Amino acid sequence: MKKKAIIFGVTGQDGAYLSKFLLKKGYIVHGIKRRASQLNTYRIDDIYSDPLIKKNNFFLHYGDVTDSISIFSIINKIKPNEIYNLAAQSHVAVSFDLPEYTTNADASGTLRILECITRINKKIKFYQAGSSEMFGKVVESPQTEKTPFYPRSPYGVAKVYSHWITVNYRESYKLFACNGILFNHESPLRGETFVTKKVVKALCKIKLKKQKKLFIGNLSAKRDWGHAEDYVQAMWKILQNNKPDDFVICTGKQYSIKQFINMVSKELEIKIKWRGKGIKEKGFDENNNCIIECSKKYFRPAEVDTLVGDASKAKKILKWKPKHNIQSLIEDMISYELNLHKNAQ
Ligand code: NAP
Ligand code: GDD
Repeated sequence: MKKKAIIFGVTGQDGAYLSKFLLKKGYIVHGIKRRASQLNTYRIDDIYSDPLIKKNNFFLHYGDVTDSISIFSIINKIKPNEIYNLAAQSHVAVSFDLPEYTTNADASGTLRILECITRINKKIKFYQAGSSEMFGKVVESPQTEKTPFYPRSPYGVAKVYSHWITVNYRESYKLFACNGILFNHESPLRGETFVTKKVVKALCKIKLKKQKKLFIGNLSAKRDWGHAEDYVQAMWKILQNNKPDDFVICTGKQYSIKQFINMVSKELEIKIKWRGKGIKEKGFDENNNCIIECSKKYFRPAEVDTLVGDASKAKKILKWKPKHNIQSLIEDMISYELNLHKNAQ
């Protein structure tokens, strides 16, 4: 019998990569999407044209993690082997503007799914999309599964709730419920308001003379960036382990936003000279045009200055090994962006 998986958040970056990964493994995948006023399935539309994927194994249902009835009906109807909860208001800066909604979706949403599992079938395995954002104002570096949390945003606080309610349901009801504590992961399918995609997109357009300037926030924050393709494999491996457990997934290397911009510029053969300090720091091209400028608009009320993880546990127990490094991630993102412009001509 083929395994059945439900993915909450199927239309997002990770939902798209995970759907393709599970379909190639022979799963029947049921994706849950929200109603939107415009089509929001562009990241998964290619599933229907991929010859390696059997289309009749992929189904989409309307649902929302803020709506218990929709969650219960879907799980009860499909009776899946595995549930991946990737649904979230996932933008940290936006969570300061929408704290109550973020808590409803990112914290209570997890509780709703867990509660449905206990009522429908306790054998359904559950993956919770935890985040390095939970480490926030880090108390040690690198961060491991044992590092205490210190969240710095409504998003981070909601994810900490989800982490602990997942642990609590595992211990209380013996559920196979697991947390992946994933550090930032990017790809060509990354949402356009996250910093890597924003930088790659803008610098490609600047190179093609279709944009003059990139406005950016805090250049000195540091992140541990991996590729979403490697990270969805880790999600699956976490649910195939012989016992339910929590795992940090990361590369172990960190770069600042400024270093990331420099790497992307180098790849695009744009020579940037930096002048000024702090919010007044600016980037100039070889013709002395200012192409990068900081704007207060992109700073957050509380910042996570530095994140870098240690994935030794996942490497040892799950034998997880990422294929990509920062260079191949950047190349993948740039080539996708440049192809879009080429095809638009
Ligand atoms: P994403 O691209 O923003 O995708 C989020 C998905 O959740 C989208 O499909 C979105 O639907 C859906 N969603 C939002 N609110 C919902 C609701 N109320 N009910 C049902 N679905 C809802 O995020 P991602 O980068 O793929 O990340 C996937 C998960 O991993 C998220 O939970 C995120 O917080 C977590 N995470 C991400 C990273 C990372 O670096 N990418 C790291 C750690 C943890 P729409 O398409 O309709 O908006
Ligand atoms: N988005 C954005 N836009 N961030 C900027 C900008 C800008 O113009 N300029 C500087 N930054 C800085 C942010 O202040 C932050 O320190 C860093 O770039 C990364 O920002 P994001 O790319 O928005 O990601 P994030 O780290 O806040 O959150 C992502 O990773 C988390 C895992 O640690 C999201 O995917 C979360 O959902 C995820 O949990």
